Amino acid sequence: MRVAMIGTGYVGLVSGACFADFGHDVTCVDKDKEKIAALERGVIPIYEPGLDDLVKHNSREGRLSFSVDLTEAVGSAAAVFIAVGTPSRRGDGHADLSYIYRAAREIAEKLRDFTVIVTKSTVPVGTGDEVERIIREARPDADFAVVSNPEFLREGAAIRDFKHPDRIVVGFEDERAREVMAELYRPLYLNAAPILYTGRRTAELTKYAANAFLATKITFINEIADLCEKIGADVQEVARGIGLDNRIGTKFLHAGPGFGGSCFPKDTQALIKTAQDYAAPQRIVEAVLAVNDVRKRAMARKVAIALGGSLRNKTIALLGLTFKPNTDDMREAPAISVVTALQDMGATVHAYDPAGMDQAKKVLPDVTYCDTPYSCAEGADALVIVTEWEQFRALDFARLKKSMKSAHLIDLRNVYRAEEVARQGFSYDGIGRPNSHVLNDEPRVVTWLSAAGPSSHAESARELEAFLAHADERGVGA
Ligand code: UDX
Repeated sequence: MRVAMIGTGYVGLVSGACFADFGHDVTCVDKDKEKIAALERGVIPIYEPGLDDLVKHNSREGRLSFSVDLTEAVGSAAAVFIAVGTPSRRGDGHADLSYIYRAAREIAEKLRDFTVIVTKSTVPVGTGDEVERIIREARPDADFAVVSNPEFLREGAAIRDFKHPDRIVVGFEDERAREVMAELYRPLYLNAAPILYTGRRTAELTKYAANAFLATKITFINEIADLCEKIGADVQEVARGIGLDNRIGTKFLHAGPGFGGSCFPKDTQALIKTAQDYAAPQRIVEAVLAVNDVRKRAMARKVAIALGGSLRNKTIALLGLTFKPNTDDMREAPAISVVTALQDMGATVHAYDPAGMDQAKKVLPDVTYCDTPYSCAEGADALVIVTEWEQFRALDFARLKKSMKSAHLIDLRNVYRAEEVARQGFSYDGIGRPNSHVLNDEPRVVTWLSAAGPSSHAESARELEAFLAHADERGVGA
């Protein structure tokens, strides 16, 4: 089947390469001449494990090609995918659909026989209707159908996610379009990936609802983590304790510095805006976004507290800058807010990231970038793990301790356990877990919970309230 993929960003390039790998004949189109020239030479513009080989292999086999001109690609395609960006519009937070609509107008000019036009970009409800209207207006004679087929892949695991999806969602209004989509995804259907056929608007909303729900799950556990720190509980055990309930599930319950990336912040914002327009406000999602924004900067305060309250003349070494491991993507990375807040408090920041430093330099110019975690830590007052890259999971603490000014580890991803780090002579602060201050100080929290032994629920609630009211005075959680 011939496929045209308009836009060679994350979603477009990965989907195009994977469709080619299924055996379809795919042309990826992009306006950026340099990008297309580079792709033709096999140079991949993004960091995504396995994508390099997939693109090279399918190009060699003649199933994947690149072009700046969509005339031939669209004219001969059974399905034309729109996978261009939908960034947040400056000022109001709505998704900016100008790239989508421009692509629709350009596609309209080139349509020949019956063609299915598929929106793969994340777009607000009703965008499919508008795409259809634009094409119909430009080409009243054209035979086409517009489908919504949102993509759920994650950066860093994109190829696996595309080839082994939990589900494929296809929103359609024309039966002929359903048949084309079924044929396109047939290889996955044989893998038993469920295809959910819905109305077009339903498919559009499903994507936003999925991302908003995941963002909510993360934010929920992050707030529970804050409470854990105050009362001396362990958020990882709480997460496991609730996650083993099948209705909740263990995934996406890792407490951390807040979610970032190219999707969650933008998509939750866009959902909030759409919902307000339709007078059906999504108050939970509004709270999620607000809590997450504040959280990123609050992580810098955690560092300050670990160092006794002030960061003046302190050097902080940051490990990991990208919004998550296995990507070079810095979009909305928590590290950006953490670094600027640390600098606002007077700290000097050193940083190391295995893949993201080139991107980071563009948004965080006043940072000293280092070649290894160890050179990064030299002379530092504290080491902060911001992104859980694999190579930070087995740091040589003896070596680090020798070169650091003072041995503090602030672990925003809970990579380590307080006891093992304390054994190496480091003080430790994780997220939502008893930190080493509490451990060394004899666990006041544990004493309260067990020795005071609240005898009834009502009593327990009252005591907890009183305890929390005085928690700060007692130094618990600090
Ligand atoms: C996300 C969705 O998962 C994907 O389905 C959609 O297509 C695009 O958006 P992605 O942005 O690549 O994918 O990253 P994801 O792995 O979902 O992580 C997003 C953010 O949440 C990261 O900053 C990550 O560190 C954070 N996160 C994730 C947590 O803090 N805790 C978790 O338990 C999971």
